[in-house]
Amino acid sequence: MALLWVFGAVMVCFYQVTSETEPNILTEPKEANITTEVLSCNFTEPQTPIKGHHWTRNGNVIEETRSTSTVGFTQYKVDKTDIKFGGAFSCVFIAATEFNESIKLSVVPHVVAPKHNEHVTENDKAVLMCESSTYPPIDKWRWSFTDDSKNKKDITEDEKYIIKIEPNKTTLYINNPASNMDSGSYTCHGSNDMGEFSDDITLRVRSRLAALWPFLGIVVEVIVLVTIIFIFEKRRKPEDLGDDDNVGSAPLKNESAANHKDKNVRQRNCN
Ligand SMILES: *[C@@H]1O[C@H](CO)[C@@H](O)[C@H](O)[C@H]1NC(C)=O
Ligand SMILES: *[C@@H]1O[C@H](CO)[C@@H](O)[C@H](O)[C@H]1NC(C)=O
Ligand SMILES: *[C@@H]1O[C@H](CO)[C@@H](O)[C@H](O)[C@H]1NC(C)=O
Ligand SMILES: *[C@@H]1O[C@H](CO)[C@@H](O)[C@H](O)[C@H]1NC(C)=O
Repeated sequence: MALLWVFGAVMVCFYQVTSETEPNILTEPKEANITTEVLSCNFTEPQTPIKGHHWTRNGNVIEETRSTSTVGFTQYKVDKTDIKFGGAFSCVFIAATEFNESIKLSVVPHVVAPKHNEHVTENDKAVLMCESSTYPPIDKWRWSFTDDSKNKKDITEDEKYIIKIEPNKTTLYINNPASNMDSGSYTCHGSNDMGEFSDDITLRVRSRLAALWPFLGIVVEVIVLVTIIFIFEKRRKPEDLGDDDNVGSAPLKNESAANHKDKNVRQRNCN
């Protein structure tokens, strides 16, 4: 008895689902790729008059496709950017409500490092980043490193490397980079169902000492200057004292006057 009830309920549900004849939108092609030039939708059995249609790319309306055509057919010509980045495209027919169908344009990911050169000081943290805005999204990111002697290795996470992954972006953090070991070329690889793509970032790690050079330069300059002044003063003083014994014992406030006089005397002596 209970079984009959369940069977009845299932049949009623099945009848309701199938009897509600969903308007049918046929797409051409079903799945698009870089060889695709045109996307088409055919709204076969509209139940109510069509008032217009438009296309969306990744959920955003492509404004120039807005139309008030009452025909149940629309085409969208893909452009260079569409082919480069791919996307989830949908045709939307406006009738009593909106009806849509999507065509996915899948491409090999296009991975880009916004900055191709990074500089960091030894023992600071290096941060390298790559992005991709392609469809389908990147399902696997990885990083590799080629040092200045062309030795290549895959980077795995440990206390030195941290790899952060976001939907369309990856960031590599390098803790305590060393100038001799960690300078080189870092490659980010992004892959999806269609294939893999990569980009390179060159990292230069300066040694702490190199970072100190400008400062050391100033210090050395100051030391040299002070030394020169000191030597000059030291060489001048005995001469001054020997010139005039009175100067040393003269009251402080008269010193400059005494010096002045002293100079005059010397000048006269010279003449
Ligand atoms: C691209 O799509 C067409 C048909 O839509 C198919 O014949 C072709 O094999 C596809 N090419 C690739 C590389 O997937
Ligand atoms: C749309 O589909 C219907 C039914 O399959 C077909 O008769 C009609 O020719 C199609 N229209 C276009 C423009 O392809
Ligand atoms: C397509 O229709 C579904 C279900 O009605 C809706 O959730 C979705 O937002 C629609 N997509 C677009 C691009 O209009
Ligand atoms: C990545 O996604 C975020 C949020 O969805 C977006 O703001 C950003 O522009 C995207 N980056 C690229 C390179 O497309």
